[in-house]
Amino acid sequence: MKQVTIIGTGYVGLVTGACLAEMGNQVTCLDVDDEKITQLNSGKVPFFEPGLEELVKRGRLAKRLCFTTSYEDALKGAELCFLALPTPSNEDGSCDYRYVFAAAQKLAKHIDDGVLIINKSTIPVGTTEKVRKKIREALADRAVEFDVVSNPEFLQEGSAIYNCMNPDRIILGVENPRSQKLLEQLYAPFIEKIQVMDIASAELAKYAANAMLATRLSFMNHLSGLCEKVGADIDQVRRAIGSDPRIGDKYLQPGIGFGGSCLPKDVDALCAIAQEHGHSSDFFRMILEVNEEQKRAFFEKIEGHFGDLSNLTFAIWGLSFKPNTDDLRQAPSLTLISMLREKGANLRLFDPIAIDQAKKQIENASELTFCVDEYDAAQGADAILLITEWPEFQSVDFQKIGSLVRNKVVFDGRNLYSSSELEQLGFEYYCIGKPAKQVLEWSI
Ligand code: UGA
Repeated sequence: MKQVTIIGTGYVGLVTGACLAEMGNQVTCLDVDDEKITQLNSGKVPFFEPGLEELVKRGRLAKRLCFTTSYEDALKGAELCFLALPTPSNEDGSCDYRYVFAAAQKLAKHIDDGVLIINKSTIPVGTTEKVRKKIREALADRAVEFDVVSNPEFLQEGSAIYNCMNPDRIILGVENPRSQKLLEQLYAPFIEKIQVMDIASAELAKYAANAMLATRLSFMNHLSGLCEKVGADIDQVRRAIGSDPRIGDKYLQPGIGFGGSCLPKDVDALCAIAQEHGHSSDFFRMILEVNEEQKRAFFEKIEGHFGDLSNLTFAIWGLSFKPNTDDLRQAPSLTLISMLREKGANLRLFDPIAIDQAKKQIENASELTFCVDEYDAAQGADAILLITEWPEFQSVDFQKIGSLVRNKVVFDGRNLYSSSELEQLGFEYYCIGKPAKQVLEWSI
């Protein structure tokens, strides 16, 4: 059992804290946001993540998990202190690590001898070293022994608890045997998943993983455009290449573009890291350009079908950047909504979980119509736009939808539906990476 402090109660901090408490450790989570801590102290999780509220409840009941805004209380007796703070983008795309630095400065006043600071935030190569320097400066003449290590996080929103409790790797950027031992004790249940490396490699591994995932997606999205032009089917091509074990079949699903708080931001930051070190960033930049192009191409399909969009009504199914989360950060839905609004279209929006977030985050949201379900959104629509592949959209009754819409047209941004089934019901169906209509010409 270890005494652990987690600074920052976002996705990474809260999931890590709740999981470490579940594993038997004594965990105190700190956040500077009073409202968040009050909510957590009353058993409420401030964002949607399946299973997290139950885990937090269990941790609190067992008195292994508590929440505070006080650095002094949070760090009393702490052996290990995680930094899980947001690292958003600066205007030029580089990583803004000021929250990490601010926390480093504050925690220095309250740490005891021997404490291990573990950075989980995504920060550019060299930042762990800068954090160490910041803490040393803030300690002034207090003689306290401490170490700072890198332990990047790889959890996915929507399955964060599963990822945390079943890690496929635990990356430890650590250069001191005592720190390594402490972390091996903490992560004892996953000892065979631990990879120890130097700090710079651990820091870069995080960016490399997200950039590799983004590369696959931009590759598939770009290829899907080519499929449409040459009359090929991206699903068949995907299956063909995915069965090569050197390629693998995961993370190859084309769509309307990737979003979320991590992939776009981390590729952007990787461009800045490359530039800063005099290395070309063209390759990384292209990943993001293709992603923007993918969103534009979807919009152009809609415009190509209708021409003038003003006063047409569109049902938007799905707002979050992916299913099982209410997170709208960099969600393709936001880009599409603003493009459609600019053309004077009326929008009827539905998402199973993210409507409250959407109302807060979309500009002039009161001008939009938020609906109670996908059928409500379809009322009088000129087209259905499927943006997020929530499981409940898979089993929609399109016969019923047909009786609600004004025009039977579906634009499927996730290749969720079968063209033959929809066409049989009289719908015009557009998806990603397939020719609009297969015309077979036989010559004798
Ligand atoms: C991503 C990484 O997958 C995690 O490993 C990482 O820890 C996390 O960022 C982070 O850095 O914190 P996440 O942002 O939760 O996780 O989202 P993903 O599940 O990776 O999805 C990202 C985007 O890719 C979504 O918009 C999703 O719709 C899209 N996607 C994913 C596809 O378009 N096709 C696919 O085959 C897979």
